Amino acid sequence: MPASDSIVIFFGYPGVGKGVQARELCARAGLSRISTGEILREEIARGTVVGRRVRSAIDRGQFADDETMLEIIRGRLEIGRSRGRGVVLDGFPRTVEQARVLDRILAGVGLRLHVAIFLDAPEEVVLRRLAGRRVCATCGASYHVEFRPPRSPGTCDRCLGPIVERRDDSIEFQRVRLRTFLERTRPVLDHYRIREQLVTVDGTRSVEAVAQEISRLVADA
Ligand code: AP5
Ligand code: MG
Repeated sequence: MPASDSIVIFFGYPGVGKGVQARELCARAGLSRISTGEILREEIARGTVVGRRVRSAIDRGQFADDETMLEIIRGRLEIGRSRGRGVVLDGFPRTVEQARVLDRILAGVGLRLHVAIFLDAPEEVVLRRLAGRRVCATCGASYHVEFRPPRSPGTCDRCLGPIVERRDDSIEFQRVRLRTFLERTRPVLDHYRIREQLVTVDGTRSVEAVAQEISRLVADA
């Protein structure tokens, strides 16, 4: 079980299963989750200053600016730290600059990296997962028309909220998001690889098989 000052980072292509696995790990290991994608979608839905600033980039499959992201993550890590639980980062850092600054933020708030997990899968697998993904508009739970359908069509199993498609999942922007990952996030893996803090997990298997491997390696790290 990771200590209360531990951080676990998830990397991977859009649609590879970071959100699903981050939720699983938090439930199994008692960690809190910070998903920068979810935070940004909430800011956009609420029409805040941040939401208005990042909306057009996100809707086009591009990244929000580093300055905004670092401001968000600094605040959330401080809150996470005060709750006395380890934290899973889903979707951060995504650029080399974010990774560099994250090192300093962690040192500043007294947190330490436990392990960085790269969920790996080929493009055809992630495109199929993105194309079929549906999410609950109320609680954010993730479904898939083929692999994880809700019990009652169109309704969330957990909170009975409406199930919808994510705006940035449109076919038009799927390939842009994959390219953005390759160009801007793939280089971040080296930041952790050279420190021997990166572990690659085969994300093509079932949700349960992947979750079990991640739980094991987090316990052993
Ligand atoms: P974010 O929300 O993080 O999107 P993403 O990285 O594109 O990843 P996704 O959420 O699309 O995929 P996922 O890996 O979580 O897959 P999921 O678990 O849902 O970010 C959105 C946007 O915000 C970014 O594009 C960017 O613009 C901006 N942003 C966020 N962070 C930023 C940052 N740090 N800096 C700058 N900008 C930032 O699974 C996908 C589907 O597959 C689901 O339907 C699921 O049910 C299914 N599935 C999952 N696992 C399996 C399995 N093993 N087998 C079968 N189906 C599965
Ligand atoms: Mg996600």
